[in-house]
Amino acid sequence: MANVLITGAARGIGQELVRQYAANGDRVYACCRNPGGADVLNGMAAESGGLISVHDMDVGSEDSINACASEIGGVALDIVINNAGVVGGMHQAMGDMIVDDWIDAFRVNTIGPFLVAQAFHSNLKAADNGKIMTVTSQLGATTWPMGGMHSYSSSKGAVNRVMIGVAMDWADDGISVALVHPGYVQTDMGGPAAEITPEESASGIRSVIDGMSMDNSGSFYKWNGEIHAW
Ligand SMILES: NC(=O)c1ccc[n+]([C@@H]2O[C@H](COP(=O)([O-])OP(=O)(O)OC[C@H]3O[C@@H](n4cnc5c(N)ncnc54)[C@H](OP(=O)(O)O)[C@@H]3O)[C@@H](O)[C@H]2O)c1
Repeated sequence: MANVLITGAARGIGQELVRQYAANGDRVYACCRNPGGADVLNGMAAESGGLISVHDMDVGSEDSINACASEIGGVALDIVINNAGVVGGMHQAMGDMIVDDWIDAFRVNTIGPFLVAQAFHSNLKAADNGKIMTVTSQLGATTWPMGGMHSYSSSKGAVNRVMIGVAMDWADDGISVALVHPGYVQTDMGGPAAEITPEESASGIRSVIDGMSMDNSGSFYKWNGEIHAW
């Protein structure tokens, strides 16, 4: 049984990751920014026999992340998944940018994952082979062949670089660090016409996490296990 912490757990890929890890018998710390409104997640927790607990965490707030870490305490975490993310608003093209939304995208997509890593470092270190996976996007790769979506793509590209650095920071701590593009997924963010289901995406991400080790720390994967170009 693994202890797994997941951010952005109330819907989409995060909620499906919670469902799959708990179905596997793992203990899941499901974090979301509005636990009172997370009806499906709360229902899953109530029926989980204690495998799922729901915790308040807004990854856009350092205070909220640290309060969640205090609540969870010293438990060893085998896996932390930085899943929470935002698109960054609908106005992010040249000539149409809303700068505050861009800053919010960086707060949630880039700085939040760093602060989560920092807050749960000791929990990951306490595990035998701690792993931290950050759900990024193919739009954050320099090889992405399209313009536009500047807020989202730059915030995901930045988190890619942050996590390469965290992998180096933690090279002697026995904690492996990786990034994954989850696919184009049928969630509120991806929309119904996206290519794969949350079930397929979460299942693929879990397999990628299974394969994480200190030998491949700092890698960028696709949900299907292939290496993603930076
Ligand atoms: N779907 C795709 O095709 C796709 C493609 C590439 C990458 N991704 C990435 O995959 C991850 C999951 O996306 P998804 O498709 O599942 O999107 P989603 O259905 O829109 O869900 C996003 C989740 O992030 C949470 N979140 C947003 N801001 C937060 C904050 N400040 N603090 C805590 N939680 C916050 C949301 O919580 P609330 O319910 O409270 O809003 C929600 O649970 C994201 O990082 C996204 O960028 C998705």
